[in-house]
Amino acid sequence: MAGDDVSIHGSWASRWVFILAATGSAVGLGSIWKFPYMTGVYGGGAFVVMFLLFIALLGVPVMVAETLIGRRARLSPANALKALAVHTGHGGKWSWAAFAGMVTALLILSFYSVVGGWSLDYILGVGAGNFQGIDGEKAGGYFAAMVDDPWRMILWHSAFMLLSAGVIARGVVAGLERSLRIMMPLLFVLLLILLGYSLTTGHFMDGVRFMFHLDPSRLMDGLLPAMGHAFFSLSVGIGSILIYGAYMPKQTSITGTVMAVALLDTFVSLLAGLALFPIVFAAGLNAGEGPGLMFVTLPLAFGNVAFGQLIGVVFFVLVAVAAWSSAISLLEPMVAYLVERTRFSRLWVTSALAFGCWFVGLGTVFSFNIWKEAKFFVTDGGAFQLYQWGAAGGLDLFGVIDFFTSRIMLPLGALTFVVFASWVMGRDAVRDELAMRNATLFAVTFFLMRYVAPLGILIVFAAQLFK
Ligand code: PHE
Repeated sequence: MAGDDVSIHGSWASRWVFILAATGSAVGLGSIWKFPYMTGVYGGGAFVVMFLLFIALLGVPVMVAETLIGRRARLSPANALKALAVHTGHGGKWSWAAFAGMVTALLILSFYSVVGGWSLDYILGVGAGNFQGIDGEKAGGYFAAMVDDPWRMILWHSAFMLLSAGVIARGVVAGLERSLRIMMPLLFVLLLILLGYSLTTGHFMDGVRFMFHLDPSRLMDGLLPAMGHAFFSLSVGIGSILIYGAYMPKQTSITGTVMAVALLDTFVSLLAGLALFPIVFAAGLNAGEGPGLMFVTLPLAFGNVAFGQLIGVVFFVLVAVAAWSSAISLLEPMVAYLVERTRFSRLWVTSALAFGCWFVGLGTVFSFNIWKEAKFFVTDGGAFQLYQWGAAGGLDLFGVIDFFTSRIMLPLGALTFVVFASWVMGRDAVRDELAMRNATLFAVTFFLMRYVAPLGILIVFAAQLFK
């Protein structure tokens, strides 16, 4: 426990490997796929500004808390909270909250894998030259045809899940390092190339204006979504960062490392937005298109530039890798927990969990085709209905899972981790684990963890409930 520098799960070779792994977890579909489409749905600048604020004031403190809990206990989330709580004279009940987080991670993985599968499908699509000279309408049609076909989606969803589970089964530390060292920097380069294309569309400034012009009337709309997405994007609130912290060498500075990861992640999100929106406006597409946004927009870029076919293939491979390195961090907390708690092997545990996630993921697959009309939480014309087939409003099954995980469970998990670190473990333990040289910086960090982040989360929840 505290003080030891060994973990039963192995340890990262160096600080850089932790940064790579945590960045690999954070940078994923959240930045490249979800951030742009949510920005589109929730009104551009209002969403972006709140997202950035929430990253800085809530996300980073939570990420520091998770990392330090993990490193102190060197155990999976549920066991870490239990061990540390008992250590400080508190009961073991805290582990239930962490357990809920680990289940949430599996639910996220169920739809994450489906969208990861879309990027696999697009590798073939762009590689086969399907996007050559494509226009907005055809790009929309291509995406619609893909999601209309449950078998095609199931195929790629299965492939994506197998790829993720394959690495986990061999152990995260060994599996991740080699691939991420090359892939992550390359992803940056390709996003810059895409940005270069956006600059040539003649609508670059429209994109910038859309992303940074704040329309105050949209603030309330996007409040909870922006907070949930800030946590989603940084991978905090369910123990992914905690478990990676558990593999972190003792001498590494937590705050510096966390800042680096948060900045990289935010940078990729903004870059993705700046690359996509000019294309959206140039082609007259709908910025509020929803989950299909990136998959309808990018074919236009790749279909209309020199070497687009090649760049497109490389790009979707990298998106798949970014998604895959995040998917791994979604599965790892529960795998580590079961390896600690049961006598089943890592391979067995991974296979069983991956199968479960795959199965639940079918719900997301069908939300886009055969169950498209199944709507939940319908408030059509004022009357509330839990479920209605064919309703105009409401959420489909994917929407329900996304809402429940990103907007409710992630913030609750985030709240649990910061409160646990700053109130239950307490100032001395946090100071010891963070080992910051500058006392003022420590005071600010601790203040953010103890007051700003918990109150911030509660206020956003309250504002949402009473709006
Ligand atoms: N942060 C990842 C992304 O942005 C998703 C994720 C969420 C991963 C929570 C782990 C935990 O794509």
